[in-house]
Amino acid sequence: MSEEILKTIQERLSSRVPYDPNRQVPKEDLKKILEAARWTPTAHNMQNFEIIVVDDKTVLDKIGNIKSKISEEFLRENYEQLSFSREELLKKKTGILGSMFPPEWVDPVKISEAVKKAAPMPLTQSIRGSPTLLIVAYDSRKRAPASHGDVLGFISLGCLMENMWLMAQSLGIGIQILSAFSSPPVETEIKKLLNVPDYMKIAFTCRIGYPTVANKYFRVRRDVEDFAHHNNFGNKGI
Ligand SMILES: Cc1cc2nc3c(=O)[nH]c(=O)nc-3n(C[C@H](O)[C@H](O)[C@H](O)COP(=O)(O)O)c2cc1C
Repeated sequence: MSEEILKTIQERLSSRVPYDPNRQVPKEDLKKILEAARWTPTAHNMQNFEIIVVDDKTVLDKIGNIKSKISEEFLRENYEQLSFSREELLKKKTGILGSMFPPEWVDPVKISEAVKKAAPMPLTQSIRGSPTLLIVAYDSRKRAPASHGDVLGFISLGCLMENMWLMAQSLGIGIQILSAFSSPPVETEIKKLLNVPDYMKIAFTCRIGYPTVANKYFRVRRDVEDFAHHNNFGNKGI
């Protein structure tokens, strides 16, 4: 049992490839993902989330037509996480490969120019054929008791993300987190379209579906000895 859980955790991954728009996620599987969401641990059991399941083609198309613009802040901070070879990534053990992004996004000299030139991109390029979106929202008027900046509320939303992700993964369903849906101009459009009340904020969106191409990619992690401290900070390993 513990081995199975560990295997699912290790095999969970971001599936950023296109999905088959004609292959729906079966209702029973969708229900399992939502059941996993239901049992998410949340601070004070607040269950501080709402999930909007969007699988209506017309609505998906309308969302797909919303345009988002890449920000310089994103590109500069993204650059900090990049490696430019497998060897570099293996050595760093954190971050992602620069080859996952367009060349003008991964050259710090060209970033400002790239941002100026970049045309607003329709969300359809992020949705990439996904037949279902799970849009996660939370009530911005509330917070976990005495939690400054509602850090505990946000951690809870992270638990929700992982619960849904692991369930989708174990069902053989691809999943990618789309943070762009919570960027202010996009969020405003989506909320209007889906009649989401003003006080709700979009935390993140999962696009789910069946990849049309293999989605294995080179992933790294730090070793346990790199982040575990035994009884004393700095006493690495267990
Ligand atoms: C809070 C959060 C936001 C994320 N936002 C995005 C995103 O907008 N687009 C994306 O492709 N991946 C996103 N990811 C996925 C991470 O980039 C990914 O989990 C990380 O690079 C490790 O890769 P893996 O999921 O394949 O193990 C997000 C993950 C988290 C936890």
